Amino acid sequence: MEPIQAVKGMNDILPAEIVWWQRVEEAARAILETFGYREIRTPVLEKLDLFVRGIGESTDVVEKEMYAFTDRHGDWLALRPEATASVVRAYIQHNLQADPVCQKFYTIGPMFRYERPQKGRYRQFHQINAEAFGMDDPMLDAEIMHMLRLFLERLGLAGVSLNINSLGCPECRKSYRDTLVKYLEVHAGQFCPDCERRRSTNPLRAFDCKVERCQQLLSDAPVLLESICPDCAAHFGAVKRYLEEMNTPFAVNPRMVRGLDYYMRTTFEIITDRLGAQNAVGGGGRYNGLMRDLGGPDLPGIGFAIGMERLILLLQQGNSIQGRRAHVFVAALGEAARHRGFLLTQELRALGMEAEMDYEGRSLKSQMRRADKVGASRVIILGENEMARGEAQLRNMTDKSQTLVPLDGLAGELKRLAGEDLK
Ligand code: HAM
Repeated sequence: MEPIQAVKGMNDILPAEIVWWQRVEEAARAILETFGYREIRTPVLEKLDLFVRGIGESTDVVEKEMYAFTDRHGDWLALRPEATASVVRAYIQHNLQADPVCQKFYTIGPMFRYERPQKGRYRQFHQINAEAFGMDDPMLDAEIMHMLRLFLERLGLAGVSLNINSLGCPECRKSYRDTLVKYLEVHAGQFCPDCERRRSTNPLRAFDCKVERCQQLLSDAPVLLESICPDCAAHFGAVKRYLEEMNTPFAVNPRMVRGLDYYMRTTFEIITDRLGAQNAVGGGGRYNGLMRDLGGPDLPGIGFAIGMERLILLLQQGNSIQGRRAHVFVAALGEAARHRGFLLTQELRALGMEAEMDYEGRSLKSQMRRADKVGASRVIILGENEMARGEAQLRNMTDKSQTLVPLDGLAGELKRLAGEDLK
């Protein structure tokens, strides 16, 4: 019978790799909590309308990449393609505005986009996502990018850079839109069908088009940054100044528009040239109108998401992490010893130690080989003779020394030794 494979573009994360995921999550939690972000977990399924209204009807994510379907009741649902709209929905639904302490949230989990899978691009991928509500001050824009930089530094990630831009407010966009449409009309008929259509629906999206020809045609196009209003320019100027004061390096990229429609003013991306076509490790920005558009209070918001697969691919380049070592392996010979060994293994685990044993009655030699393979630092050898004397052999796998130890109180003794191993 043909074995069933996982869905294309959706990957298993196997134990050999999970250490990377745990390390990244641990570092993320530590830094986010320091900056006052608290964890929130929302469902992976939401009403389709949330993303259509939140992300924008004429974005690639909504037009082409959503896993959307009707359930048995006929309701339109979608697997979340990103987390921002969901976190905003939860904030509104639970009236979290009333919480005096926490207005900053983070969430870590899978997202789903129907894209063509390749290295660094998957249909189920994972994001570390941070969102802060209620604050319009440019200090926060700079702080969130600074936090991102600290996080990447703490992980030892090199070779990435921060690109920033301002997309202005709806007011500055209105006048810019006309200028851009005029430019697009001059080249009408030369863009891809999507961009031709975008000219009348959402012209700014053309900058986000993946077709090279369109990008070439846009190389002389006027950019939004040059026509933002004085308020937006002052906001952006302050963001840049704060970044400089915190020694967080950045480059202004006026052509970066981001792929989601909710952004305004500050937008940013962490980019790399070490992942082939997938050059964005993370991205984010301000979305002051989103909360209102989703039926909530008119509060500003800003946030970002890091793609965990891409981050881990980068961290793995030229680096390895040792798998976790089991502390104790119990090797037993004979039925009585196996029985005793089984109980000892459970006793060790109850004391919080990682313990393994052989359940298949193999030879001592093959049990020792297994102990070596699982990386045990100590092995307890229980043979018939030792058992009869109420003793066991304790082997130190690091210096290969072996001593006889009493079985009574052995679990406690091993616990003490494990503490010493860690020193
Ligand atoms: P985004 O730029 O669409 O932003 O995605 C953020 C990151 O998710 C990307 O930079 C990339 O690393 C990763 N990513 C996206 N699609 C895939 C994929 N198919 N396979 C692997 N990784 C992928 C957002 O999602 C916004 N919600 C970020 C945000 C939060 N803005 C404000 N708050």
